[in-house]
Amino acid sequence: MFTCKILPDLKYLLTIASIIYVHDTSDTNLNSMGGALRKWRKRKSKHVSTNQLSLSTPNLSEPQQKVKYRQKHNRKDRFSSASNQHNVTASEPDLRIDNQQIEKGDEEISANSRTDVVINPSNHENIKAGSNRLFIAAIDIGTTYSGYAYSARRDVEKDPSNILCPQWRGDEGLYYKNATAVLFDKQGHFSKFGFEAETYYHEAMEEQDDILTYFFFNDFKMLLYEKKDDLNKEIVITDITGKKMKAIKVFSAAIRYLKEHLLDVLQKSFVRDSNISNTDIHWVLTVPAIWEMKAKQFMRDAAEMAGILADQLSLALEPEAASIYCRKVPMSIKESDLKTLTFLSSGISYVVLDQGGGTLDVTGHQIEEDNFLKEIFPPNGGSWGGNNVNYEFEKYLEEIFTIQVVHQVKQDDPVAYFDTVKQFERKKKSFKPKSDADVVFNVSQAFKEVYEKTHKSDLPSEIRIKHGKMRISASRFKAFFDQSIQSIISHLSEIFKSPKLQNVNVILAVGGFSESEIIIDSIREHFPNMQIVVPKDPGLAVLKGAVLFGLEPLAVKSRISRYTYGIKIDKEILPKEDENYRTLRRDRKSRRFATDVFEKLVEIGEEIKVNEWQPAKEYDPIYKDDQEVKIEFYATEEKDPVHVTDPGCMKLGTLNVDLKERTRSNGALKLEINAGGTEIIAVITDENTGKKFKAKFCLP
Ligand SMILES: Nc1ncnc2c1ncn2[C@@H]1O[C@H](COP(=O)(O)OP(=O)(O)OP(=O)(O)O)[C@@H](O)[C@H]1O
Ligand SMILES: [Mg+2]
Repeated sequence: MFTCKILPDLKYLLTIASIIYVHDTSDTNLNSMGGALRKWRKRKSKHVSTNQLSLSTPNLSEPQQKVKYRQKHNRKDRFSSASNQHNVTASEPDLRIDNQQIEKGDEEISANSRTDVVINPSNHENIKAGSNRLFIAAIDIGTTYSGYAYSARRDVEKDPSNILCPQWRGDEGLYYKNATAVLFDKQGHFSKFGFEAETYYHEAMEEQDDILTYFFFNDFKMLLYEKKDDLNKEIVITDITGKKMKAIKVFSAAIRYLKEHLLDVLQKSFVRDSNISNTDIHWVLTVPAIWEMKAKQFMRDAAEMAGILADQLSLALEPEAASIYCRKVPMSIKESDLKTLTFLSSGISYVVLDQGGGTLDVTGHQIEEDNFLKEIFPPNGGSWGGNNVNYEFEKYLEEIFTIQVVHQVKQDDPVAYFDTVKQFERKKKSFKPKSDADVVFNVSQAFKEVYEKTHKSDLPSEIRIKHGKMRISASRFKAFFDQSIQSIISHLSEIFKSPKLQNVNVILAVGGFSESEIIIDSIREHFPNMQIVVPKDPGLAVLKGAVLFGLEPLAVKSRISRYTYGIKIDKEILPKEDENYRTLRRDRKSRRFATDVFEKLVEIGEEIKVNEWQPAKEYDPIYKDDQEVKIEFYATEEKDPVHVTDPGCMKLGTLNVDLKERTRSNGALKLEINAGGTEIIAVITDENTGKKFKAKFCLP
């Protein structure tokens, strides 16, 4: 038997027939439950059938759709919730715009709860992002490297290769991406970013006594992938020495630095007094396609905190951005690949393999007749980016020097540790898999000294360190890549079993890790029938492609829904249906209502056209005299969720609908959603007053 949960303040009744019920304000359960969130019911309309929503539903239950997640040995405990931390420093003033503002347009009002993002009133068709801004700039906060690219709208419209990237001075020359490193002083105030932060921290170690009280963060992006459902704005991360700070502050400092840098460049490079400012720029922030919704929302929040307003920001999925770039800018592809290249022509399907420092992100794309992209296989992958090779090396250090020694070095001399890993990184990038020569690189003396002090003996002879240089055989060095190669190959093998990818014979490998010879050679070896296309600068393809995405957000025409989306309603049911629901109530007329019901709007696996709105659905408020309804939007990986409280259901946000100006009780609330972009846009039209209410939710 189910438990019948009685709802208290139900001022609205659900209608599920084509009859509009007369509102019954004498509900027996009126006073026994709280919360305005249940004031929402589905209206069954003569004109709008719920069946209209059941579009094609490709089978997504294939095993390869489930992303496996491998916890890295040395990441454990790096990220923890603020609730059990004491060492959180004061955060910067929160620049977040209060989203509770109500914007009045001619006929429309946008209203949202604080958790939601308000968008400007606009026509449905107008989902072209930032179409009125002079510049488009993309910011890519990478696990290892970060940067921005930009273009004047007019220039990039004329020529998609017309995208600029600043150059950053690193330890070995100039780079188009900067290091993802943020330094805060001991008070927690932002100090430096990128290579500059690394160098400063390193050099200050010699002479600045208090440098260990500074906060130095690198390799923090993976937090957003690893924390998944536990992610929130209070979460803290530890710096290189274990000091804690709110993660959102670190992310937003990185975004703010890049944003301010571009503004500075623009102000200096254009005619004086041209007054180019933040509002002239539409910003695009890149995110891995495999990230969960909360992670994407976290990046939005970090961007807002960095002074980028919600309506001047789009999120671009990293593999999509790279895919768009390689297609629109053929000169990004090596000539050798172009000769045999077929993947630029319409009708061709290919897999985009985005291999960055943190994640491996795989998506299937098809080029449509009209040259737009269609997603044929949804994003999937895992934490198998290039940094795993570094983690294998760090494990090796623990093996040879012992965990105790490595921890001691990290704690006492973090720069020495960091430098050694950096030295390794250089060798990793230039490693030639066919060479038999030993790999030799600098290793800090600190390891030797701490070892000898701790063990009261010399280093064992198998550790080949001489004059501060470590020597590793080519075969051992190769072994650092084994785990990555295995993960990538086995994941791709699984994916290629899918019937949806049977026509694919091209892999477009992007992301910095695709520069690795050993990785690309291994993929070629395992998939001899595939053409592996690597652009000339695979790391930059994501960043530059994000600018093109900002210019043309509809370049990807359709996507496969990764979630089932819906809203919370009360639904009238027949007595025999009781058993299907966990929470029920009954009104005075003994009508039965299932409560907290997940009303499905889009189903997982459905193909959704990016600029198309789902057929409208109509609902009635449960009580005619209520001043407002709060419509809660949910997502889940279940195909047929029953209640919004089912395990795995995630609340996306709430759209508040103001009913104060309603003059009569009738007139439905018409709900339309557009879920094919990188965000969901929901519009409620109050047919009584003609007012529209909109909200934008970040898509998982
Ligand atoms: N020639 C190379 N050989 C091997 N690895 C390389 C090479 N060039 C770059 N990498 C690796 O690629 C990764 C960086 O790539 P990229 O800049 O695309 O990543 P990211 O943007 O920092 O990470 P993510 O996109 O996953 O957040 C690093 O792990 C780096 O060591
Ligand atoms: Mg990247």
